[in-house]
Amino acid sequence: MYQNIVILTGAGISAESGIPVFRSETGLWEQERVEDVATYDGFLRDKTKVHEFYNKMRRSLLDKKPNPAHLALARLEKEYSKKYGANVNLVTQNIDDLHEKAGSQKIIHMHGKLKSILCEHCNKRYPFDEDSSVESECKFCHHKSLRPDIVWFGEMPYQMDEIETLLSKCDLFLSIGTSGVVYPAAGFCQVARASGAACIEFNLSQSAVGSQFNCGIYGKASKTLPEFVSTLIDTGKLPDNVKL
Ligand code: APR
Repeated sequence: MYQNIVILTGAGISAESGIPVFRSETGLWEQERVEDVATYDGFLRDKTKVHEFYNKMRRSLLDKKPNPAHLALARLEKEYSKKYGANVNLVTQNIDDLHEKAGSQKIIHMHGKLKSILCEHCNKRYPFDEDSSVESECKFCHHKSLRPDIVWFGEMPYQMDEIETLLSKCDLFLSIGTSGVVYPAAGFCQVARASGAACIEFNLSQSAVGSQFNCGIYGKASKTLPEFVSTLIDTGKLPDNVKL
């Protein structure tokens, strides 16, 4: 039985809910340049473009629903921790709100959230559900210095100390729907393995860091994850077909 489970999710878990992934033939980074909309320099060059890019994404969340993979993780947190007295923690690179909509409670959004805003003047972050622009005022300091609360390339992801502590204690690490090319998240498996954790990745096919895992379960997460989670909750063990 596992006592400290850490789950890392990436864009692949939300793909079946209709949110495009970043890296694929039709991925977001084929349509927009990373340098323009996901770096601080890009923001300084054209703040209006960057606000509009994230406004569009924030608005698109309205009709998006969690799929069976998000729901399975919420079930794992609720039922497994209750049945076995275990800690189940979710770390997501995703900026959408589908884990929240699915009912997960302990979520670290290491790359920020669309439904949050950050004031560059007073450094406060707060929930935000509207459109932002260069004219929007911070509700605390009233400066017109809001930016999307997204961790861009070259910036430090949120809650890294907490994540490292969780990884150093974990005995099961699950990585779901992430390509394994963006650090530090791509390095989490190595940290978890050094702590002695069993590491399993869920993806359509092996990710860039897939060889570091004990085992890979390949197929759509909405299919593979609910089955896996049901067995884990029922037995406290990994399914028989998962060989470490
Ligand atoms: N089930 C499981 N995995 C899937 C599914 C699915 N239904 N659909 C796609 N995937 C996998 C893809 O095979 C791919 O490996 O999800 C992964 C998505 O990879 P990326 O688009 O690179 O997304 P991610 O790994 O989350 O990106 C990391 O990069 O651009 C930045 O900040 C952004 O948080 C993001 C980070």
